[in-house]
Amino acid sequence: MKALPHPTLGIREEHMPDGAGSYRSRLSFPFLVTIMSIAVASFLSGQAPSPGTWPSAEQRADTLLKQMTVEEKIGQLNQAAGVPLVILPDAPPAEEQVRKGLAGSVLWVSEPAAINRFQKIAVEESRLHIPLLIGLDVIHGYHTIFPPPLAMSAAWDPKLVEQVQTIAAREARAAGINWSFAPMVDIARDARWGRMVEGAGEDPYLGAIMAKAQVRGFQGPELGTPGHVLGCVKHFAAYGAADGGRDYDSSYVSDDLLWNVYFPPFKAAIDAGVGSLMSAYMDLNDVPATGNYFLLHEVLRQDWKFQGFVVSDALAVKSLITHGYARDADDAAYLGFHAGVNMDMASNTYVTELPKLFKAGRITEAQLDATVRPLLVAKYKLGLFENAYIDESKIATILNDPASGRVAREAAQKSMVLLKNDAQLLPLDKSGKKYSSIAVIGPVADSGPAQVGFWGGMITGGDGVVTVIAGIKQKVGPSVRIEYAKGPGIRREIPSVFDGLPGIKLHDEPAQSAADAQSAFDEAVATAKRCDMAVMVLGEGPLMAGEAASNSSLRLAGRQQELLEAVVATDKPVVLVLINGRPVNISWAAEHVGSILEAWEPGTQGGNAVADLLFGDANPGGKLTVSWPRSAGQEPLYYAHMITHAPETAPDFKSRYQDVKTSPLYSFGYGLSYTTFAVSNLQLDRSRAKVGENIGASVEVQNTGSRAGDEVVQVYIHQQSGSASRPVRQLKGFEKVSLAQGEKKTVHFTLGKDELTYWSPSVRNWVLEPAVFDVWVGDDSTATLHGSFEVTQ
Ligand code: NOJ
Repeated sequence: MKALPHPTLGIREEHMPDGAGSYRSRLSFPFLVTIMSIAVASFLSGQAPSPGTWPSAEQRADTLLKQMTVEEKIGQLNQAAGVPLVILPDAPPAEEQVRKGLAGSVLWVSEPAAINRFQKIAVEESRLHIPLLIGLDVIHGYHTIFPPPLAMSAAWDPKLVEQVQTIAAREARAAGINWSFAPMVDIARDARWGRMVEGAGEDPYLGAIMAKAQVRGFQGPELGTPGHVLGCVKHFAAYGAADGGRDYDSSYVSDDLLWNVYFPPFKAAIDAGVGSLMSAYMDLNDVPATGNYFLLHEVLRQDWKFQGFVVSDALAVKSLITHGYARDADDAAYLGFHAGVNMDMASNTYVTELPKLFKAGRITEAQLDATVRPLLVAKYKLGLFENAYIDESKIATILNDPASGRVAREAAQKSMVLLKNDAQLLPLDKSGKKYSSIAVIGPVADSGPAQVGFWGGMITGGDGVVTVIAGIKQKVGPSVRIEYAKGPGIRREIPSVFDGLPGIKLHDEPAQSAADAQSAFDEAVATAKRCDMAVMVLGEGPLMAGEAASNSSLRLAGRQQELLEAVVATDKPVVLVLINGRPVNISWAAEHVGSILEAWEPGTQGGNAVADLLFGDANPGGKLTVSWPRSAGQEPLYYAHMITHAPETAPDFKSRYQDVKTSPLYSFGYGLSYTTFAVSNLQLDRSRAKVGENIGASVEVQNTGSRAGDEVVQVYIHQQSGSASRPVRQLKGFEKVSLAQGEKKTVHFTLGKDELTYWSPSVRNWVLEPAVFDVWVGDDSTATLHGSFEVTQ
């Protein structure tokens, strides 16, 4: 692995230790020597040192490396678990490892005081005073919890995505976390996979844009920007392609799909300067991703010139043995190290095995230096050597900034997708003239944990959340009576492995007796009968989506479907609000319920946002970034599938199931508004272009309804022939436009080299081929407004 040059950041004033009384890290001895030599040289030459003469992070890392013993170097490659792990009962406590210089990072600690304690041990008690990277999964917020990435992608608004991750970074950094294990950019095309919620959905083009926006949010304009954290793009690669959607199961992914679908969001994050990357758990084409030289060396370092460092997923170095790939711990460390994993997350394998490998000459000091160096560089860039501590007295002000709550509310509003509003039941009238009583029913109508989801709940436990029932009550006037009934509770069929683990503040609901469930059911139906209409709030609990939360069926958990049917049978108007992390089976609801709003896991301000949309103070504008299946049997399901030899449009043979339609229930890109839009007049500025030339496209979009709203204009292409079959459609551009009632705008797109190039499995390289291309522009992936152009040699 060759170390590559980094841009010089120098030492910034903001990174210098602040006033007396606060904690300070010690300036390391080698650093002082370098600084003093510069000062002496300046004195002798009679000139003041210019900022450019301060040593760069890379120079400082090299100076420090010279002071380190082999054990200390290996120590930097160890990320110690800050909580006891049942799975590794013999692992030494993290404090002890840090003190001995045998850990470069600690994870799973989120309490500021505990973080300061860890840094104090590293900086004041370890021999070289090297501060720690403190890593945590700040996936969609630390204190203020925003909608998760799948929901945020449905806003189709990269600036908003950057803004929420900027706030997440600011809160995390204030609390001492300097490294977030995010963004998660795995393409997910199978809703059975519980982790779909953590990424931006099924599409690589959109995924790449969202990946970049998140990196900018976490890290700021460059790594080391004050108030930001080190980002970690994960899980490299194709974790979302798990067989059958079963978490951790093998992924079998062709090179074509790797380069064209699964890699692009990673490449985008790297181009945006992400400082670290996490390897994935699963076997990729039968080679574990954490010991995968092709992924971690050839693609990442050789092809993409990644200059940051790689951390394994938790315990994944050790589990190279479980995979049946490594012989033993020694072999696992060897395979992880040589594949390109710089840091071993929590498995303690590097710190115990690498010293032996070094002694045996199976790793060299030069290799060790090259592996440690980017970690030290990151610490220097983050300013940790100047100040590793946080000022605990300042945290509350940052966490409770009212501006963050406002952004959380806006983010939740914009991420929600109105799936159905046939009878224009929505927006509801809050004056009580139409409905003077509303029944709010369902197990997630008053659930903080469900609203913040797994990662949000792990940190906060779901405290401080405005739930849907609270949001609705706050919204309506005194003339509307709101009645709430939870109905039967929901819980996982098989308990979550995370339930009750140290550091995780989430628990599944307690089991309910059949009699209690029945009386809750009856009470819910009676509540609906007593009221003029019902808002049903159904979906998933916080442990039902996320890691280790795959489902074979997408059915609504517990008795929710039955309850929905019973409430609909009362003949009261029903609005369905979904709180969930991935599509669930709502095929029955799509036929029998008037209005459906997908609210995802809407976060801290979710209840207010739901109420804003239900009562028309905001207009829904979100669009699905996953194809919504009719049933789990349709999965994997994605719009950019191949045409096949028996397309759906063929008169006879069709590639399809005989018992369900081929189309999704709701398409990728779909979402309604309280107003209507017309997209028309597609113009291409040329019908022929030479390879490499741009084609300009424009369309008009008009708000044809009765109120202001947002529309996402989407551009799809299809290459009609070439060295490989190409997807039936591929997203290659979009623009979100806000239009006042009656307003019309012209939107411009460019289709050029970036949009028309793909990785061809027959050429085994990137190609831009002469061919005829179709173009469709519209408001979802079924857009019909069509044009075409030809690319010639
Ligand atoms: C395992 C998960 O796969 C990964 O996403 C996460 O960052 C680590 N655990 C650390 O919590």
